[in-house]
Amino acid sequence: MVTGMQIDPDDERVLAGEQGETRQKMLELLVALGKVFGAERLVPIKSAQVSGASYKTIGKYGLDWLASLDAKAVVPAVLNPIGMPRTRWQEMGIEPDFAEKQQAVVAAYERLGVRLDCTCTPYYLHETRYGDHLAWSESSAVSYANSVIGARTNREGGPSALAAAIIGKTPCYGLHLEKNRVPQMVIDVHTDTSRWGVADYGALGYHAGKLVGNRIPYFRGIRPGPDQLKALGAAMAATGAVALYHVEGVTPEAQKNRYDLSDIEAIAVERTEISRLFSQIPVDAVAVGCPHCSPAELGEIARLLTGKVVTKPLYVFAAQGVIDRNTKIVDSIEKSGARVFADTCMVVSPVMEQYASIMVNSGKALAYVPNMCGGQARIGTIEDCVRVATE
Ligand code: F3S
Repeated sequence: MVTGMQIDPDDERVLAGEQGETRQKMLELLVALGKVFGAERLVPIKSAQVSGASYKTIGKYGLDWLASLDAKAVVPAVLNPIGMPRTRWQEMGIEPDFAEKQQAVVAAYERLGVRLDCTCTPYYLHETRYGDHLAWSESSAVSYANSVIGARTNREGGPSALAAAIIGKTPCYGLHLEKNRVPQMVIDVHTDTSRWGVADYGALGYHAGKLVGNRIPYFRGIRPGPDQLKALGAAMAATGAVALYHVEGVTPEAQKNRYDLSDIEAIAVERTEISRLFSQIPVDAVAVGCPHCSPAELGEIARLLTGKVVTKPLYVFAAQGVIDRNTKIVDSIEKSGARVFADTCMVVSPVMEQYASIMVNSGKALAYVPNMCGGQARIGTIEDCVRVATE
């Protein structure tokens, strides 16, 4: 018995080292985390999504740590995007030295039983349902799972998500508990959003994340679809630390529950606060697919590119599984000279560092590109992104 947490007999044996040192250390990590956050027990999870996969972010020490582990994931576990496409890295202009190190990271995860779907949109590949407990770590995936699907996950660090994958459980605290999932502020959007696309919702999320911080917002006055919800949540998780949000009449928990919103802070957002984010700076390259594109988004890009040829690099990012199921659409996009890459993205790949200015249709990328890639970022609609890449 570990003080403060119920541990079942099987897990007591793991803690005693009967199933090897790696499983012992992984469970110790989860128990320690649970004790810090006041968890009373561990809860079984349906899947894990593990960040810390790009060599650009984990470096030599991260790789050495992974290589020292000896165990297998016991639930479906996928990787976050890595620093390059696994199969077309030469075409993306990745240096062989970086590729070798990145391949070593991937091999280390594969040895641990982590699937090599390197994506921030695992929900397009593996069924995730309302009420499922998960241990996901990439912030936009966490936001989508909690808010759009109604699954339950805290934002895990790479090591705790890997530990959860290996043990099959995570400490039950935070967003795993119903009582911690209620709105903490209201955001009233005061503008006609009926014609808004993904970029507008990304810009709203960019703005709202700064207002919300780490609270749980409840939006009124918007009717986003799934791709727009994905963009909204990703951006709020980037400029704030929002792991769950609700949208009145749209997201599952907002439809199911009657929240008392009378005593919580309400903030109004006006159109001008969103439109000022759409700058006109010149760009060297265009990158879309942050978070990774859905099949519908790939279809939209293909439609907009029909009959056009790119005059600037146009990168499109999506999960390999989504690309494999949409090869005709991907071929049609690439006919224009644009490139559709799997496994990586404009933020974690070192290739994007060569550009002084990148145009995106994502509020999250607008927030991250300057810090992670060193260049400027401009947000525009997908129509504008295609226009700028082909003019
Ligand atoms: Fe995904 Fe990369 Fe954006 S991990 S959310 S595409 S920064």
